[in-house]
This record gives sequence, C-alpha cells and structure tokens, in this order.
Amino acid sequence: MDFKEYVTDKLAKLTGLERAEIEKAVEVPPDPKLGDLAFPCFPLAKVMRKAPPLIAGELAEKFTVDKYIDRAEAVGGYLNFFYSRPAYAKNTLKAIEDKKEKWGSSDVGAGKTALVEFSSPNIAKPFHIGHLFSTAVGNSLERIYRHLGYKTVKINHLGDWGTQFGKIICAYKRWGNRSVVERDPINELFKLYVKFHDEAENNPELEDEAREYFRLLEEGDDGTVELWQYFRAISLVEYKRVYDRLNIKFDSYAGESFYSDKMQEIVDMLSDKGLLTESEGAQVVDLSDEDMPPCIILKSDGATIYATRDIAAAVYRKRTYDFDKNIYVVGTPQALHFKQIFSVIDKMGCDWAKDCVHVGFGLVKFSDKKLSTRHGDVVFLEDVLNESVQKTLEIIHANSPDMENKEEAAEKIGIGAVLYTFLKSGREKDIVFSWDSMLDFDGESAPYVQYGYARGRSILRRADIDFSKADYGALTSDEEYALIKQLELFGDAVKGAAEKNEPFYVNRYVTNLVQMFNKFYNSCPILKGDVDKRTKKARLALVSATTTVVKIALDLLGIQTVEKM
Ligand code: ARG
Repeated sequence: MDFKEYVTDKLAKLTGLERAEIEKAVEVPPDPKLGDLAFPCFPLAKVMRKAPPLIAGELAEKFTVDKYIDRAEAVGGYLNFFYSRPAYAKNTLKAIEDKKEKWGSSDVGAGKTALVEFSSPNIAKPFHIGHLFSTAVGNSLERIYRHLGYKTVKINHLGDWGTQFGKIICAYKRWGNRSVVERDPINELFKLYVKFHDEAENNPELEDEAREYFRLLEEGDDGTVELWQYFRAISLVEYKRVYDRLNIKFDSYAGESFYSDKMQEIVDMLSDKGLLTESEGAQVVDLSDEDMPPCIILKSDGATIYATRDIAAAVYRKRTYDFDKNIYVVGTPQALHFKQIFSVIDKMGCDWAKDCVHVGFGLVKFSDKKLSTRHGDVVFLEDVLNESVQKTLEIIHANSPDMENKEEAAEKIGIGAVLYTFLKSGREKDIVFSWDSMLDFDGESAPYVQYGYARGRSILRRADIDFSKADYGALTSDEEYALIKQLELFGDAVKGAAEKNEPFYVNRYVTNLVQMFNKFYNSCPILKGDVDKRTKKARLALVSATTTVVKIALDLLGIQTVEKM
C-alpha cells in the first residue's frame, strides 16, 4: 500500500475535494518533526469562507486516526499527518523483501524501446576523458531505463570513418611499422596521427596525399580498405578491454562507416522533398526559419559529412529498432549539431524526430596537474582508470594491510570512484577532477558508498540469529524511521533520473541512503550492546534491506560493490 494515496483517499472523503486536486496539493514537510505529509488548507479558504488555520483545526478534529495514521495535527494553515511507524516499517520492508533486486523498478517502459548511444570514440584519435564522461552517463542511463521496464539497445557510434583515415593511412605507409602498432594500437595510431600533422606543417603535399587515400578508401580500393579494417579491428580490441573493465557490452558498434552506403538514399529523400539548396557549392538544408545555420549535407566536392551520417543513422535506427526514444549521450559542444539534424529529420516528415534526445554533458577540468599522461595535453581514458586503481591500491595497503583480494577490490573501488565523479552532479555542470575528493573514503565518493555497503554485509555475515521472520514493527526510532523512509523513495529517484536523463538523481539518492544507514548504525546497537531479540532481528533485516537497495542503486550507476573492505 501507498501511504500517500491512503491519506489522499481519506482527505477526499473528509473534504469532498477531488482526489487529483489533493494529490497535487499535499507536500512533504521540510522538517520531519512536522510530520510525514502535509495538506495546505489555503485553497479551501475561498470556498469555505474561513481562515486556513481554522479549517485545518476543524479537519484535524474530524480526522479519525487508524492503524496507519497515528495523528493529524493542525499547524498554521496546514494539516500535518504522522504515519504509524510500525505500520510504515512493515509495509515498506515487506515490499522490499518481496521485490528484491526489482525494488524501485516499474513498468512505465513496458513494451517500449529506448536506444542509448554513448561512448563513441574516434579511431586513431584520442579516446579521452570526454568519452569517459559519455560512457559513464550513457551506461547508467541504459541501466536506469532497463530497470523501468524498457527494452534497451546500447549503441557505440564509432568514429571509424572520415578524412582522418586518409591521414593515418598516409602516415602509416610512410613511417608506420606493423609490429609497433600491434603492441599498443591506440597510442601508436595516435602518434602517427600527431606525426602527420607535425610533418604536414612543413610539407603541405602530405595533405593531398591523405585526401587521395581517403578517396581510395571511399571508392573501395582493396589495399586501402584492408588497412582501414586492420586499424579498426585492433582499436576495437583495445576499446573492448576498457569496456570489459567497466562491465559494458554494447549491442551495436554500427559507427560512421556503417552508414557510408546508406547516405545516397538520404540525399535523394531530401532532394525529392525539395529541402536541398545550394550554398557556396555545397548542398544544404536551410534552417533559418528556426534561427539555425544551414545543415550541410554534401560538401562542395560532393563528399558527405558527419551530419549526413547522423541523419542516415537515425533513419536506420528507426527502421531497425522502431524506438520510442533515441538518446545521444554526447558533449554539450555538439548541441547545435543535434538540434540541426533533429530539425532536418522533422522537415523530412518523420514524426519520430520528437523522440530523439541529445543528452549533453559539461567539460572536465583538472584541479591538480598530477594526472600522469604519456601524451602531452591529451588525457587517455585507460590511463585515468589505471591511475585511480593504483592510487586506491596504495590507500588500501596503507589503511587495511590485512584486507583480502586487495587488487580485485582496488579495481572495483578505483573504477567506481571515477564513474561516481561523473555522476555526482547535474551532467551539464563542468567537472573538476581531483584525486583527493574522488578517493575520499569519508566524502561524497564511491568508496564512501561502497564502504557503507561492505559494512552492512559484514554485519550480516556476523549475524548470530535467524532474522528471516523479523517483526519490522520494532523499528520505530528516528534513525530507523528515517532510513526506512529513504528506502521507500528509491523508485522516485529512478523515475526522476529517467525523466530528466540525469543519473545523478540515483547517485545522490544512494549517497543519502548510506549517510542515513551510518547514522542508524551509530545510534542503534545491532549485534552487541543493549538489544533484545525482537529488535536485533528487525535491525538485521533492516541492514539486509539497505544493502539490497544500495547494491541495486550502485548497479544502476554501473558501479560494483565490494563484499569486504
Ligand atoms: N565520435 C564523436 C566524438 O568523439 C561522438 C559521436 C557522437 N554521436 C553521434 N551520433 N554523432 O566527438
């Protein structure tokens, strides 16, 4: 049962107001001392021609308490309700016990498909911290949608096509060495890319050579295509190694190259609808009616570009997956690009353009220049993960020398710390990367939350009593009640996160949950001290419910748990 609905029903009978009206009006008081739910009587004042405090007083008198509601109290113009704590505890903890890892799920997404495109690095260009931001947010969103009943598809729109391949092929032919590239593909390909640019400064003919190689690639020249395939394949192996560490499996790696033969149809469709106009030799879709610069479809030399591929990709995705939502997790600097392509799709007459969403995110800054990078200014994703894991391992060695499986724990905590950092605030905010706060076991961090989980698990391991038939009615202290109320709120956090495409709702939720758990743990004895059997069992059951929910929430963030810390 839902306590809010229950109060709403009772109020509807009492006041004669519509349920919907009451539902909109009731609010959670800012201070828990004022009760669990408040009904503001101000809107009734006009109809009843009475002052709100008077109405609240009368309603309080008429309201009959029962086994779910302890009392109703008039304070100012508000009628405040206090739930029965034993009834509330039983109701909530029983529900968690029943739903287990499905707690916080719902069926809002039943029968619907949500595509989440994220990560999407560019081959031969750095796989950098921005891609990690996209990876963290996208991975979490996909998990959140799945928890809400959506069928989801994870897409990696690889940057595996475009003029940079002409450059890479040119550089490889001149200075490359297969065995060197094979040893460390992403870095070596990137080095070749950098060398190309350095050399091209003094030797501009290199640019022509690169263009020629890309032309050969587009034409399907055997040798050139083979090299491209080789570069793509060895890079993918590297990417997948990183994704494995993050526990991510993409459903599709259909990247830019996948659409190279699907663009002519788009160009034809646009031209049939009379949407193409010429501008400085290029074919563009005019978007001045929406105050945007034109969207270039074909460059003056007839070549397609990034935007053309994105339009082809959206059409392909609609045909292939018939999505209800098509989400792009890409940095905010590309906001205009997505507005333009969504608008072109809309002009093509696709009513599903409205289901395409760009989910942007901010920039990443470094508070200390201490991040060791082998590549000048460019920060490589895997280096960030390695450094975080390494630093975590040092902390573990220093603080918990007896801990088992140090390496395995450091991997989960170190990676969790990085992911948490990206999911900690609203995604459009810029992020300041600081090892100190990321790995602060007492601060707002993954290790703090993971530690709370491990502490709960440790209590359960040491439990010396069977608590499977606990009487939840024993949980009535302020700390216990606050914790149970937080457990109840999980579903709202998950739904809110999906509505706004903001995983930080779940992140903030789980951080608060662990804070409340720690307060409970510090003020309510569980295994030791002055505690009777009934209370002990109920507290153990509360610890168990809490660890279940922390684990689900972390899982929705893509962060793993550690059993012993
Ligand atoms: N590869 C691009 C980049 O690194 C991101 C791809 C974004 N997705 C898309 N459908 N355009 O900037």
